[in-house]
Amino acid sequence: MRFTALSTLLLLGANPSTAERKDTPSSYSIERTLVKESGAPSGKEFTHNNVTYYLSKPSSDNPRTKARSDAAVLFLTDVFGIQLPENKRLIDSFARAGYLTLGPDLFQGSPAPADINVPGFNTSEFLARHTPAVTDPIVAAAIGYLKTQLKITKVGVTGYCFGGRYAFRFVGEEDPAQGRADVGFAAHPSLLGDDEIRAVAKPVAVAAAETDSLLNATARSNLEVLLKETGERYQVNLYSGTQHGFAVRANLTNPAERYGKEEAFVQAVRWFDTFLVTGGV
Ligand SMILES: *[C@@H]1O[C@H](CO)[C@@H](O)[C@H](O)[C@H]1NC(C)=O
Ligand SMILES: *[C@@H]1O[C@H](CO)[C@@H](O)[C@H](O)[C@H]1NC(C)=O
Ligand SMILES: *[C@@H]1O[C@H](CO)[C@@H](O)[C@H](O)[C@H]1NC(C)=O
Ligand SMILES: *[C@@H]1O[C@H](CO)[C@@H](O)[C@H](O)[C@H]1NC(C)=O
Repeated sequence: MRFTALSTLLLLGANPSTAERKDTPSSYSIERTLVKESGAPSGKEFTHNNVTYYLSKPSSDNPRTKARSDAAVLFLTDVFGIQLPENKRLIDSFARAGYLTLGPDLFQGSPAPADINVPGFNTSEFLARHTPAVTDPIVAAAIGYLKTQLKITKVGVTGYCFGGRYAFRFVGEEDPAQGRADVGFAAHPSLLGDDEIRAVAKPVAVAAAETDSLLNATARSNLEVLLKETGERYQVNLYSGTQHGFAVRANLTNPAERYGKEEAFVQAVRWFDTFLVTGGV
């Protein structure tokens, strides 16, 4: 808790000595303001070379923005796409933490319906249409856009569920499609293969849910073993009382899920601050 309050205050640009003094239960309320959970999107959508993006820019008034002017966060969504309000708000939240943040539309205007159980939606068929052969070029195009159009030199990739696998793919040894990121973060990644974990060649962190059939306890220990073997810096955080999807679609009236979502966001920001902005540990 102490660590959290401190890191939260660092995010807000406060002096750490102030953080020490204010390390009381009331600092938890500061944490709650970190992830945007309501309000209109502050970014904008546009299309470039036939890929649609949602881009959110940090405010120049934010004391954190200047030190991050050559860095960006590439945000890879779950199957609900950049169309889902929670995804837009998370992109806005990274911008509030001082990072220019770009989310490509991975599903070209046709994400999964917000209720995946609606009759007529076939998950296997959807996933069969969105393979790495289809998705890698979209992610690579987004990295290309950041580097050539926005003159970004350092990219931190964050991915959720479906997008988590691609966060791993783009910090791997091989260049999937003419584009790589420098640091990775994945929340409850799905469909992640052992070969994709073994290939990790950059620092990578994971936020895992307690209840997750797509990354159960066995798969999670396997992930930890394989990450250790890569020799890269890694971090795997497990959040009790959470389910698959919590880092995006937490039930906000459930305190454990809400806490988990906020912490997973702080985890990602701290990871990027440490390995993307400063030289790592
Ligand atoms: C642009 O993307 C759409 C799907 O969003 C696709 O149907 C179309 O063929 C693409 N056009 C080009 C020129 O690649
Ligand atoms: C869903 O899609 C898969 C793969 O395309 C297919 O084999 C299956 O029959 C479909 N299921 C339904 C209920 O349509
Ligand atoms: C955990 O997931 C793996 C696939 O990653 C599966 O083979 C295994 O049966 C699952 N274990 C449990 C206890 O559900
Ligand atoms: C959300 O969490 C609250 C508190 O735990 C619970 O009462 C409610 O049923 C949950 N809602 C959903 C949709 O699961």
